Amino acid sequence: MNTPIGAVGCLTVDQVREVLIEATSAPSLHNSQPWRFHCTADAIALHADRSRAVPVADPEDRELLLACGAALLNLRLAIRAAGVQPDVNVLPHRCASDLLAIVRPARRRPATPTDVELAAAIPRRRTNRKPFLPTLVPMSLHSQLRQAAEAERAWLAIPEREQLPKLQALAQQAHDAQLADAEFVAELRHWTGRGPETPDGVPASSSGPIPEPQDEWVLRDYSSGQANSRVAGKDFEPEPLICVLGSFQDGVSAQLHAGMAMQRVLLAATAAGLSSSFLSQIVEVPTTRKELRELIGGGLWPQAVLRIGYGSPVPATPRRSLDDVVDAPARS
Ligand SMILES: Cc1cc2nc3c(=O)[nH]c(=O)nc-3n(C[C@H](O)[C@H](O)[C@H](O)COP(=O)(O)O)c2cc1C
Repeated sequence: MNTPIGAVGCLTVDQVREVLIEATSAPSLHNSQPWRFHCTADAIALHADRSRAVPVADPEDRELLLACGAALLNLRLAIRAAGVQPDVNVLPHRCASDLLAIVRPARRRPATPTDVELAAAIPRRRTNRKPFLPTLVPMSLHSQLRQAAEAERAWLAIPEREQLPKLQALAQQAHDAQLADAEFVAELRHWTGRGPETPDGVPASSSGPIPEPQDEWVLRDYSSGQANSRVAGKDFEPEPLICVLGSFQDGVSAQLHAGMAMQRVLLAATAAGLSSSFLSQIVEVPTTRKELRELIGGGLWPQAVLRIGYGSPVPATPRRSLDDVVDAPARS
């Protein structure tokens, strides 16, 4: 049964369904999809759904807010691509509730080419944990990715090649710390290695190949127990492009905005033909997050660590249906 969604502001019923589907295709830690949408005649409200938190890996709901920020950017872009201007009120009750934003599709306004390009990338963006080609990402694209972060008032730090060994050591340190925690491992197992029919969590088919000794950047073991064995000769890229999405403050508002910036970077990468994956251990473990903050200069709060490069196609992961995430009064 379909959720009885009605028209909202300038959007028709079909457009409302479409923009909500785009919003829910945002990435989230373990594909937990920690959001709810409430539609009224003139607005779509985005709420954090804390019942879908991942409390061991993300005890302060920081990554939950990143995911909701990503969903909010998708919603904004999808509305823009429909030729409508969204008036967005972020944290209308300050940080005091789970109401994260109210989006009013208020008036018609033609989409810009950038809006159209980024909105078109929403359904094509996927987390790609497979090896990327050894081809280096050109510097011109580094600039485009940085600009995408800056457009949402965040910063994309791209560590120099000589900083990568330190970054890699931090990733390994964080990974080891997490795997030594039985509660973390139980939570990871709960959310990953799922069958294709489940609407949330990470399907086994989305895991990367089983790590081999030469793999330096394959850390979160989404592969455990899975038979995603390596195709001969398909090693991970020797010089990955690793980017650290940072915010100028930390806290609820900064993390929500960082989620929008993270998603704009991921969509800009997708639009440029690039693939991406996450290396979140470093920012999930407090000691390594602190060291990463120092590594990138001390002025930014690291929010997400991304690996970007040229990958081959991977399937989309499932999402919960709109019936499960949207509250909407029936309208004629
Ligand atoms: C804040 C955040 C952290 C994430 N951390 C990791 C990670 O450490 N390792 C990983 O393989 N995927 C990570 N992911 C990716 C999610 O697992 C992925 O978004 C989810 O499974 C949905 O798949 P999709 O991105 O292909 O749509 C993260 C996503 C978000 C938003």
